[in-house]
Amino acid sequence: MKVGIAGIGKMGNAIGSRLLGLGYSVTVWNRTSDKAGSLLNAGAHWASTPKVLAESVDTVITLLTNEAAIDAVYSGTEGLLSGAGAHPTFIDMSTVNPTKPPELALRVQAVGAAYLECPVGGSIGPAKEGKLLGFVGGHAADLAKVQSLLEHLCKRVEHVGTFGAGSTMKMAVNLPLMVYWQTLGEALSLIDHLKLDPQRVVDILSESSGGPNMLKVRGPLLVQALGHQKNDTVTVDVATMRKDMRTMLALAQTNHRELPLTSMALQKFNEAADSGLDGKDCTQLPVWWLGQGARPK
Ligand SMILES: NC(=O)c1ccc[n+]([C@@H]2O[C@H](COP(=O)([O-])OP(=O)(O)OC[C@H]3O[C@@H](n4cnc5c(N)ncnc54)[C@H](OP(=O)(O)O)[C@@H]3O)[C@@H](O)[C@H]2O)c1
Repeated sequence: MKVGIAGIGKMGNAIGSRLLGLGYSVTVWNRTSDKAGSLLNAGAHWASTPKVLAESVDTVITLLTNEAAIDAVYSGTEGLLSGAGAHPTFIDMSTVNPTKPPELALRVQAVGAAYLECPVGGSIGPAKEGKLLGFVGGHAADLAKVQSLLEHLCKRVEHVGTFGAGSTMKMAVNLPLMVYWQTLGEALSLIDHLKLDPQRVVDILSESSGGPNMLKVRGPLLVQALGHQKNDTVTVDVATMRKDMRTMLALAQTNHRELPLTSMALQKFNEAADSGLDGKDCTQLPVWWLGQGARPK
């Protein structure tokens, strides 16, 4: 199977690397061509436009920032849909508002191609190892065509319903993780005056019942952040977290639900963004909070 990837950011790079490692023929396109360099060096092919990408492969995976980026890449004379003549299957793995997949499905189906949403849980590490969680929305017959591809990327492929259901599930998966970073900052502010070694603190918290798997995975980066050691690695940036939390709140409003903790955590992360954290890794949030929340009133 020839696979195309449009959107070679952090996740697109990781998924491309996984597929190349498994021997897939991979063609890539990215708005900023430089970011595809390592995949091209590893054997990926370059498509000059999204249209050319769609014309060259059987399946197109998109991994894009948000709804506007999806519109930019799928639409227009050089967009993915204008190259869909051979009817590839489109799989959008971006994290978006659940209102987007039904709308995109109609546009893809109008050009005679198949579409699935499959937003994913897990970050760069799981993506490179094929251990993501995939939440599929769409038709079972279309999923059957790409099931084995998705199983090479995901340790679980969960077909949770029709278009939009995958994105809704993804919001539910992300919500506790997002709020966790604020609770972690607050927990750390309680013990700040004990002046314990950050490595020891992260070890203890990650062993506790309240320590999510994420803390084990991101522990080393968090220890460095707490120790104020410079590390520019970004797995999930604060801007992406804020985008997801805005989507959660919009979804809750549509469904007449309240998310008070999400709302408060987002308010704090907006303040963090105002202090310049938007492009930084999520592990910087508790460090920022220690400088804010721990400040004597
Ligand atoms: N990072 C994670 O751990 C993670 C985990 C699960 C899901 N996700 C989701 O996966 C998606 C990608 O995340 P990421 O972390 O890989 O983000 P990223 O590194 O910021 O990459 C974003 C990609 O979108 C492209 N893009 C943005 N606006 C565009 C536009 N107007 N036109 C064309 N391309 C545009 C970027 O192109 P340029 O390179 O040209 O800017 C880049 O390829 C997001 O929806 C995110 O929520 C991320």
